[in-house]
Amino acid sequence: MKLVSLAAGLLIPVLVYAAPTSSNPVNPKVKGTPQVLGLVTDPSLDRDSCGSAKFNDRVLWVCRDTQNWGPNGLPTFPLITSSASWTEYNSHGGPRLVTPAGADTAEYLMYGDNNNQAFYPLVYDECNETQSGQCGDLSRYALWPDSPPMVTMTNPDASVLAYTWVKKSHIMPDLSTLIADPATSLYRVNYVPYRDGPTGLPQVEIVNETFWGENEIPYGDYGNVVQDGTAYLYGQNSNGTIALAKVDPLDIEKKWMYEYWDDGSWTSQQPASDDPSINIPNVTAGGQGTFYWSDSWQSFVWIGQHSRSVSADFYITTAPKPQGPWTEPVNFYSGVNGNYTLGAYTLQAHPSLTTPWGNDIYLTYTKTDVVDGQAIYSHPLIHVQWE
Ligand SMILES: *[C@@H]1O[C@H](CO)[C@@H](O)[C@H](O)[C@H]1NC(C)=O
Ligand SMILES: *[C@@H]1O[C@H](CO)[C@@H](O)[C@H](O)[C@H]1NC(C)=O
Ligand SMILES: *[C@@H]1O[C@H](CO)[C@@H](O)[C@H](O)[C@H]1NC(C)=O
Ligand SMILES: *[C@@H]1O[C@H](CO)[C@@H](O)[C@H](O)[C@H]1NC(C)=O
Ligand SMILES: *[C@@H]1O[C@H](CO)[C@@H](O)[C@H](O)[C@H]1NC(C)=O
Repeated sequence: MKLVSLAAGLLIPVLVYAAPTSSNPVNPKVKGTPQVLGLVTDPSLDRDSCGSAKFNDRVLWVCRDTQNWGPNGLPTFPLITSSASWTEYNSHGGPRLVTPAGADTAEYLMYGDNNNQAFYPLVYDECNETQSGQCGDLSRYALWPDSPPMVTMTNPDASVLAYTWVKKSHIMPDLSTLIADPATSLYRVNYVPYRDGPTGLPQVEIVNETFWGENEIPYGDYGNVVQDGTAYLYGQNSNGTIALAKVDPLDIEKKWMYEYWDDGSWTSQQPASDDPSINIPNVTAGGQGTFYWSDSWQSFVWIGQHSRSVSADFYITTAPKPQGPWTEPVNFYSGVNGNYTLGAYTLQAHPSLTTPWGNDIYLTYTKTDVVDGQAIYSHPLIHVQWE
């Protein structure tokens, strides 16, 4: 409600449409009960941590550790650090689910030719004799994407250009990391329909293995969003600091074109990663998730997991500008956890599956269950509608 002054001394109340502004943050409310629609699955693969991006008229998914299913119903070796897949839209622009004959769970089918090669190629100093990055000394280069490809261009010939930043995580079998803040590689993802074919995947090249150096903020890896002709790139360091950079989507490969949010303004001087004035309060709940722009809310949105959680508890925050102010993260939905110790992780939102006019979002997470003594992954697909 707003008071409008018509003439001196006369104030009448009028109802004004609450267009979100920096002084009027969006606090989303779930409408009804979110629906678990089924599972997102490539029936030939067992893999975790899938994120998605709209690639022209299909959806590209990129996941982490991938294994083929064996004839005994258990995953086989070798292990592949990343793999990708396509899924298709239904006629309403949402996910096209099917229920196989005799099954009671609907499936959102993924397909694509991975050829047992890592989607983000490993290079020679990442123990690339195997596609898992396994080194002889038990350590491993786990090139696990934290975010799906960021699309920067769709051409009239339907080819799509996208980028991903991946940390060069060098880990031990107990998942401890040998370098707390490793360097980050930039990859170029390019899908050309006539070259790659309908079941072919985009071709991926490494642009620069150390685009962000060791101990630098890995901008773009933690999350990213292209809005109004600018790419906003979030990075998180091992201390939990979350910082923001921006660049023209056409200049992703030119590090000298980047600007950084530092102490309340944009600067072309890259700040040190231990500079306390680069941290953006409340921007996320600290865990893995997805940033996107909501047309209906005219707002930036983050949906994901709390930093101290291995449960399917989804948090949301919103902000009128990428640098904030962000609302305090709130838990708006909780899914079923798997019965493995890491029961649920890689909580993701999928703006790729919504239409600009819809007031809804799709969610997935990696649900891990112990079956026959092995941790097996599945990816429930959930539909949330907003009031
Ligand atoms: C390892 O990486 C190098 C590039 O650094 C590449 O030339 C080579 O083919 C890769 N080896 C394998 C087995 O993929
Ligand atoms: C990779 O990027 C870094 C940081 O901009 C730069 O110092 C280095 O020269 C680049 N490497 C190559 C091979 O271009
Ligand atoms: C991480 O935090 C420690 C302790 O507060 C500090 O000494 C260090 O400089 C921080 N490092 C980074 C990269 O922020
Ligand atoms: C986080 O968000 C809450 C709610 O909007 C706000 O009260 C608090 O001041 C924010 N924290 C910071 C450090 O901005
Ligand atoms: C864990 O969940 C899986 C999949 O639902 C089920 O097959 C298995 O029996 C469960 N294990 C335990 C110990 O509950």
